Amino acid sequence: TNPFVIAIDGPAAAGKGTLALRLADHYHLPHLDTGLLYRAVGRIMAERGFDLDDGELAGQIAAALDPDDLKHPSLRGHEAGEHASRVAVHPQVRAALIAFQRDFAGRAPGAVLDGRDIGTAICPQAPVKIYVTASPEVRARRRTDELAAKGRDVDYERILAEIRQRDERDSGRSTAPLKPAEDAVILDTSDLDREGAFTAAIAIVDDKW
Ligand code: C5P
Repeated sequence: TNPFVIAIDGPAAAGKGTLALRLADHYHLPHLDTGLLYRAVGRIMAERGFDLDDGELAGQIAAALDPDDLKHPSLRGHEAGEHASRVAVHPQVRAALIAFQRDFAGRAPGAVLDGRDIGTAICPQAPVKIYVTASPEVRARRRTDELAAKGRDVDYERILAEIRQRDERDSGRSTAPLKPAEDAVILDTSDLDREGAFTAAIAIVDDKW
């Protein structure tokens, strides 16, 4: 049988990452946070002082990416996310990262991948596609609370503006823009807590398992 791939896509701060981890744990499948690939490319570009808008160069960095590059502690941060979304617009970068992701997805017994284009471009044949979303206001609120809990001084309005800007960049790019696959189940978590989102996702997956 084909590997059982669970494709999780959605905008920034919708709760994809947490959900993907819990699903991977529940179904005993390996998990790939594909945002890390773009974050790693952005980090290397910025660190070397390269122009993030240089698609050729960014594509070369992406092609030479090493799995160890995904472990850098600074990748989770906000700035890395911004750099990631800027290099992610380049078709050269996206093309260079396809093989790694498909290879990960193609191994038995399956995998959970989360990102922006897993259901539409990376694994269009995935048996389960979930598009996790929530209103920009709810996502900004969650992100603000999360950062505040870490003791960071944060401003809700600024985070909301950044989330809107990230949505626009991710949805507006011409190569593999952020959008639900036609056969994706939309999971709007605006009125759900983590537990509620997990329960709803399990129901979606069990239906296809
Ligand atoms: O999900 P995360 O916040 O780590 O992603 C950072 C950025 O990387 C996104 O805003 C998006 O521009 C890009 N990305 C992408 N395709 C993916 C995963 C992430 O374009 N599959």
